[in-house]
Amino acid sequence: MMPIGPLMIEHRLIERMIDVMREEFVLIMKEKKVDPEFIETTVDFIHTYADRCHHGKEEDILFRDLGGKKLTEEHRRMIEELVEEHRRGRNITGKLVEANAKYVQGSQEALSTIMDCIKTLIAFYPQHIEKEDKHFFIPCMDYFSDAEKEAMLKEEWEFDKSLIHEKYRNMVIAAERILTAKKL
Ligand SMILES: [Fe+2]
Ligand SMILES: [Fe+2]
Repeated sequence: MMPIGPLMIEHRLIERMIDVMREEFVLIMKEKKVDPEFIETTVDFIHTYADRCHHGKEEDILFRDLGGKKLTEEHRRMIEELVEEHRRGRNITGKLVEANAKYVQGSQEALSTIMDCIKTLIAFYPQHIEKEDKHFFIPCMDYFSDAEKEAMLKEEWEFDKSLIHEKYRNMVIAAERILTAKKL
């Protein structure tokens, strides 16, 4: 498998989640209320899977290795754009977390922020994915030798392996902090 294989498989799962979000968005509009658990699931998916796991591999492996190649001006510009889009996605997710916390505490204003964030995410991700799938990933493979591609793929597996441990280590750290705060 090429190193873009796992990335493209991940795109398909992100698309499925975006489809769910699109339908949930219609329900939120209609009912003027949101299920905080749906937001928590969405945030967890976007934060851990789409951003940390998927964008993480793109930035820390593929883009990093492309950085060592003599790229065309177009490809260099595209990497900058894609990284900027990842940053935007991260900001929107952060906003969504904050708005959801306020909403759970009873703020009605937070509902419109939640809707704005979801609307932005469902517009943003499909475009971003299309850019990578159709205009970036495949031509970029030409910069690498077979050995380089193989090394990247191996590093991707290693990257994924450490993530689950990272996620749950952070969860324990957060739980410990909350407990300490309660005891103060
Ligand atoms: Fe990306
Ligand atoms: Fe991607």
